[in-house]
Amino acid sequence: MLRKGLLPAMALLLLLASCRVSPPEKIDYVIGVSNSSMLEEWRIQLNRELKEEADRYPFLSVIFTDAASRSDKQIRDIEKLMGYGIDLLIISPCDVERMTPIISAIYETIPVIILDRVVDGYDYTLFIGPDNDNIGRLGALALHRLLGEEGGRVLEISGPMDQLSSRSRSRGLHREVEESYPSIVMKDPLIVSPQNRDRAEDLLLEEPGRLEGIDAIYTHTDGLALGVSRALEKLDRADIPIVGTDNPSGENGGFDLVDRGLIHSTVESSTGGREAVRYALDILNRRTGVPKQIILRSRIVTRDNRSNYTPMPVGGGAEDGITLGYAQVGTESQWRVSNTKSIIQAAKDFDIDLIYRDADQNQEAQIGYLREFIEKKVDAILLSPIVEEGYEEVLGEAKEAGIPVLLSDRKIDSPDEELYMTFIGGDFKEEGRRAARWISRQYPGQSVRILELWGTNGATPTEERHEGFAEIIDGIAAYDIVYAGTGNFTRDGGYAIVSDYLETHAPPMVDVIFAHNDDMILGAIDAIRERGLKPGVDIKLISVDGTRAALNALKKGDMNFVVECTPLLGDQVMKAVLDLMQGKDLPMRIVTDERTFEADQVDDGFIRRRSY
Ligand code: AHR
Repeated sequence: MLRKGLLPAMALLLLLASCRVSPPEKIDYVIGVSNSSMLEEWRIQLNRELKEEADRYPFLSVIFTDAASRSDKQIRDIEKLMGYGIDLLIISPCDVERMTPIISAIYETIPVIILDRVVDGYDYTLFIGPDNDNIGRLGALALHRLLGEEGGRVLEISGPMDQLSSRSRSRGLHREVEESYPSIVMKDPLIVSPQNRDRAEDLLLEEPGRLEGIDAIYTHTDGLALGVSRALEKLDRADIPIVGTDNPSGENGGFDLVDRGLIHSTVESSTGGREAVRYALDILNRRTGVPKQIILRSRIVTRDNRSNYTPMPVGGGAEDGITLGYAQVGTESQWRVSNTKSIIQAAKDFDIDLIYRDADQNQEAQIGYLREFIEKKVDAILLSPIVEEGYEEVLGEAKEAGIPVLLSDRKIDSPDEELYMTFIGGDFKEEGRRAARWISRQYPGQSVRILELWGTNGATPTEERHEGFAEIIDGIAAYDIVYAGTGNFTRDGGYAIVSDYLETHAPPMVDVIFAHNDDMILGAIDAIRERGLKPGVDIKLISVDGTRAALNALKKGDMNFVVECTPLLGDQVMKAVLDLMQGKDLPMRIVTDERTFEADQVDDGFIRRRSY
């Protein structure tokens, strides 16, 4: 579509901002970019990546704005961009709280991709960013590799702590040091505000006493690392090694500093610029399978791994067709059955040869299937692990054999993130929080007795749904989880626990049941009815998944709230497999889009159209 009336505005913007305008007759889409500032190298790199990627598509035009770290300017920038008729907004917000309502309003009109700092709630199309807590954790690992078992004293140099990224990085760093590397002693941090290279250099020159007895320095960005290294040089203390963070390429970027020996290592925090443009195109072209969040991968970069910076294997079967070995959990729930269907169908659609194995909730059998795939030399393996523990050895064997592994739906618990290429699935913790928030909305200031029906012990959805749920419930004194039992995600399991509980407790026994999946809540409904009670009335019922059966129960009033967890992962999984085979770097996590349901939000037509 040729966007008439846009040309004068674009010409003006050519002068106002660093922007690129493709020949107008070719323009199909215009993307507006609102960057929070252009002061840091990382943000300059972000714009560079956005521009380079956009330049690959002649029908795409991008207008860049720079908010100069001021929210009022960012709001004006967005108004201007909207005035130019952009089709999609990419924004890295200055101040998450102030920008949340603005982004919600824009999202009602056009798609919004948020970069770097996620806003509260889910009123945006897609978030792409790093996991800053994990970046801090990797910082601790890099320090450990540097200092060895003996450990040492570390000076942390960060930006202001009112920045979410500084807080998260610091939290991840300190927690990991405490839990895993007690021989590392963290000294009082040096806070650099405003956070930039020169300020870091000045502060350290003003306070050289900070360096006394210090064995290593950890900086929250590579810009800070450069300032620190200049100060160390001047103070004749260049012997103190630095671990940085950020990793943008280009002069004075993390790679460059590692190459020049100015810092020992850096923890990668990619900008997500390229991914933003690629996903923007998927969104604008209305492709299916666009996730809700993309969490970018972070790795430790040192001089040793700098030159061959692809630590994980990449399959090479794309030319003569791709064979994917798929080890599924089992058939314990309706969700699982739909999940399997979605993956099998998507494999056909993407022309990928699928070897499907159902482990029937048996981990030993599942590990056996993984070994079978390795033996068959498949191009890639797709694993939905039954539980989080116990896969390190076999995934190590896959890595050794050069076969990349993708995790779908559930995660593994391992500090070695190089055992798998990406995780594709829901945000289970948020699902638990959403269930708890419903209770807090329904029962403000009242006491509530809760029965929690857990899924399989040790499985990611069980652990994380509970964690998110408890995070809110435990903070409200009048709420009490009076009983919790494992129903293994099955209808029978949910029935057995609730039936036993109601039999052994005198009424009134419980106010709310929260089940980690729909099948268990359907079992609970059977048990409640058998006791002559009314489900959804005498006891309020909440579950996770959003299958047709649960939505029907919700509509009939037999239950009260459903948190969605989509099993339709097929397209996203196959897209990731193809990307991988084409040599593209995958993000660390691809998080699916999910919503919640109350009775008045579902009607027969909606339920009929639902594919699971
Ligand atoms: O791992 C996802 C969970 O597993 C679903 O919520 C549940 O129904 C399934 O069995």
